[in-house]
Amino acid sequence: MTQEDILAILREVQHPGKGDKDIVELGMVYSIEPLADKTVVTLAFGKRRDPLAEYLIGAARAALNRHSVPGPEVRTIVVDERPANKPMELGKEMLSQVKHVIGIASGKGGVGKSTVAVNLAVALARQGYKVGLADADVYGPSVPTMTGTEGTMPMAEDIDGKQEIIPIEKYGVKWMSIGYFAGRDQALIWRGPMASTALKQLILQVKWGELDFLLVDMPPGTGDIHLSLMQDIGIEGAVVVTTPQNVALADVEKCVSMFRSEGINRPILGIVENMAWFTPAGHPDEKYFIFGNGGGAAMASSLGLELLAQIPLVQGIRESGDAGTPAALGSGPDAAAFLALATRIAGR
Ligand SMILES: Nc1ncnc2c1ncn2[C@@H]1O[C@H](COP(=O)(O)OP(=O)(O)O)[C@@H](O)[C@H]1O
Ligand SMILES: [Mg+2]
Repeated sequence: MTQEDILAILREVQHPGKGDKDIVELGMVYSIEPLADKTVVTLAFGKRRDPLAEYLIGAARAALNRHSVPGPEVRTIVVDERPANKPMELGKEMLSQVKHVIGIASGKGGVGKSTVAVNLAVALARQGYKVGLADADVYGPSVPTMTGTEGTMPMAEDIDGKQEIIPIEKYGVKWMSIGYFAGRDQALIWRGPMASTALKQLILQVKWGELDFLLVDMPPGTGDIHLSLMQDIGIEGAVVVTTPQNVALADVEKCVSMFRSEGINRPILGIVENMAWFTPAGHPDEKYFIFGNGGGAAMASSLGLELLAQIPLVQGIRESGDAGTPAALGSGPDAAAFLALATRIAGR
């Protein structure tokens, strides 16, 4: 069962104190984790002793049982006065005007995580959303190149005695990257706690202003940096990028387990299968499944996740990345793939 299926079931649970609106509509469903043998649903409450909490937990469990959801478990989380679907850490001062922080992650490097992140940012902006992207890949910041902002030095502003970094604006998106401050080769020396501290500043000391989405291009793999990003920045949910090869898929499982692990427990919006097939520039209607067909879909369903998009391997995506003019700015089928992904994510 996918998160979508379970969300549909939870719509049957009405909140008697809120004009019988359902708990999904009210933004009370904080996360859904469809694991192999159990399904963990976390409901968000605005106060510690909500008089209706017990009733709603019971009603949610009953609905899940009614639909034979495997091993239903309903947990709760208290989220203060903030909107119900925001993790606590998001209250960080600098991100107070940011509605959604979404991590773009991958099991390993080179699968097109940054390509997807940059194009998704541009696509969301084209659809009218206010978007920022923080390039947190300390090992290989590629956002400056991919957006043609390389060599730009962001300004700092002194606001009430506090330094705030002004993001670089281009293509309707606010960009920030560790690459603006350290050269390409230098970035490789950022390791461990130093990298975590630098990253925190890079995201929390930036004057993002009002944003609908802040995308975070996370470093590949799983490690200390990821933990600190998740804890200190308050990444609300993740999009996991993969290619169809088997090796990449094994890495995805590790990445997904990280988000689902007990200390982290962040929802995964779904999987993006990049380089799903090859389409030659001169033959836009042809598809060659050079890395195999259906790998992304199989992986998504085995992990109980949605396959959010399949992005083709086309020369234009690589070239536009190198040229600093993201493919999503255009009007071809590759732009359409990223725009569809944006619609899907905004919907979620
Ligand atoms: N769908 C695609 N079609 C063509 N080239 C792609 C595609 N996705 C990524 N690439 C290219 O593959 C390389 C690695 O992508 P990148 O986004 O930097 O990966 P990551 O951030 O995961 O390390 C880049 O040269 C990029 O232009
Ligand atoms: Mg990258």
